Amino acid sequence: MRIFLTKNYDEMSKRAADLIASAILLNPNCTLGLATGSTPIGTYQELIKKYRQGILDFSGLTTVNLDEYKGLAPDNPQSYRFFMQSQLFNHVNIDISRTFVPDGLNEDSNAECERYEQIIKSAGGIDLQLLGMGPNGHIGFNEPDVEFIPETHCVKLTQSTIDANKRFFEKEEDVPRFAYTMGIRTIMLARKILIIVNGEKKAQIVKDAFFGPITPKVPASVLRLHPDVILVGDEAALSLI
Ligand code: GLP
Repeated sequence: MRIFLTKNYDEMSKRAADLIASAILLNPNCTLGLATGSTPIGTYQELIKKYRQGILDFSGLTTVNLDEYKGLAPDNPQSYRFFMQSQLFNHVNIDISRTFVPDGLNEDSNAECERYEQIIKSAGGIDLQLLGMGPNGHIGFNEPDVEFIPETHCVKLTQSTIDANKRFFEKEEDVPRFAYTMGIRTIMLARKILIIVNGEKKAQIVKDAFFGPITPKVPASVLRLHPDVILVGDEAALSLI
């Protein structure tokens, strides 16, 4: 694993965007795995800048997102499809028909998870997967557990994730209790992984994930078994390592 230490959130976002831009420049038809949450917003803004400067062309890309809340429609402002549209897709020349997010409205969990795995396989797998990390070490919505769940699945969100994500909703009751997420194997099969972390709130979990035991109780710890991972973090998030 390579670790890039950056000064602050802006520097982290620039560095992450540079790495994603390199992947796009080297292979304009690549498949990117994308993430939501507050961490990647700056990275997406930097990518939009590069598009406006004429450095990047998104037209050949396929994208697959990590996860989606079960029960939320794509036009619900809290859905991850809506997030991707407003934070990135609406601002670049991407072909929307080749951007994929699990369908939160599909009530048939097995069917939706199988369909999503198939989409990723048909895209030829993921060339570069961008990840954030939840305060409990979750990646996508792979919550701490007694085992790693390999494939895309429907997950019951933990109270800690509901607490962490309620800031995006009007009230806690509005936070969906279930989500679809790529599984650990789905993520680990990505050819390259870029994980970004910022802020002192993440310092302890960064230490646990990257310097503690590899365990499903800290899902991000599994990334240390991947041959090509880059961690980009700001000084606050990397302060304990
Ligand atoms: C959500 C997403 C994760 C993301 C996490 C971190 O739970 N499912 O993919 O990494 O939030 O959020 P933030 O970047 O806001 O800390």
